[in-house]
Amino acid sequence: MTSIPQDIPGEPNPLRALSLDRLRRRTSMKWRTYPEDVLPLWVAEMDTPVAEPVVRAVTEAMERGDTGYPHGTGYAEALAAFAGKRWDWDGLAAERTALVPDVMLGVVEALKLVTGPGDPVIVSPPVYPPFHPFVTHLGRRVVEAPLGADLRLDLAGLEETFRQAVAAGGRAAYLLCSPHNPVGTVHTEEELTALAVLAERYGVRVVADEAHAPVVARGVRFVPYLSVPGAERGLSLMSASKAWHLAGLKAALLVAGAGAAADLARMPEEAGHGASHVAVLAHTAALRDGTAWLDALLAGLDDNRRLLAELVAERLPGVRHRPAPGTFLAWLDCRALGLGGDPAAAFLERGRVALMSGADFGTGGAGHVRLNFATSPQVLTEGVRRMAAALT
Ligand SMILES: Cc1ncc(COP(=O)(O)O)c(C=O)c1O
Repeated sequence: MTSIPQDIPGEPNPLRALSLDRLRRRTSMKWRTYPEDVLPLWVAEMDTPVAEPVVRAVTEAMERGDTGYPHGTGYAEALAAFAGKRWDWDGLAAERTALVPDVMLGVVEALKLVTGPGDPVIVSPPVYPPFHPFVTHLGRRVVEAPLGADLRLDLAGLEETFRQAVAAGGRAAYLLCSPHNPVGTVHTEEELTALAVLAERYGVRVVADEAHAPVVARGVRFVPYLSVPGAERGLSLMSASKAWHLAGLKAALLVAGAGAAADLARMPEEAGHGASHVAVLAHTAALRDGTAWLDALLAGLDDNRRLLAELVAERLPGVRHRPAPGTFLAWLDCRALGLGGDPAAAFLERGRVALMSGADFGTGGAGHVRLNFATSPQVLTEGVRRMAAALT
């Protein structure tokens, strides 16, 4: 066993293992963007130690001096086995995958394969903010088909947007976020099947960002987009980075449905060169040997999801919150608080708690904040206390 420092020895819940003092020694974006008196509950980094099998894989690579370039399909095979066990999906074929540096660069490569310059890329806001700049930087046009008021895919709105997007004759893509960051919606098989039908009807190619796929509450089924009937021409991005807190170890997989294999074959091998070999070993170990750790994480996230709902009801009565099973992110509707379009700025200034500003997530985001609850119950409680203090 590789020993990993933690403040409560033997604590099974990874979210309870580290003290705030130890977390503040981290040097990543979450911990260094704001001054020390600010409690950071914003960017999607988790306050967990790294799972022991991952630490072991990286340590052993260092000991071997195994720090060269990536090789082989071990990551894809580990993901395929994980998908079979966790999602009951046996359709992930290692030969229809490509290594990419991370999820967003994989999205860019996928969009390059299925659209051309100036073509529309449809997104459903409020959605992960980088979708917008990555698409425009690639020279494609962002077109919004917002989520419905129930924070689920609005299939009628999507159909109308698809129809208009292809009317001009270009190639269009839909960038699906599944589970949906920031609202936590886990799309059902029926919704995804209906999406696939629409995509085929209008000739829109679906690129599914499934970065948070393993982070779905127990008892709720995650359905991989490529597993639904009619999704064969889709492309998906998957990674261990979100579920095992490995964003600093760059690697992800671009997965093609059977009908997109020829598209994937056109991707230059060089597009995968930015993935790190050590990261690939880390992600592979997570998927292969880190499922007990993941289960402990999901149990801790369930507890936090419940705790947050209670705390919001008690301490933030003006805030509307619909707990959702996907991701470790909560979407809080603060429009009734009278804090204006950017409540995150008020919470930061008056409460010294950093949240993501909802306005950054596109249409429907103003007046909301996104809170990352992948932390200890103590920190979560303190975060809500600070938010409440900002309102007095
Ligand atoms: C929906 C979504 N996609 C992609 C990413 C980024 O993943 P990566 O660091 O692998 O690009 C995130 C990070 O939070 C995310 O929430």
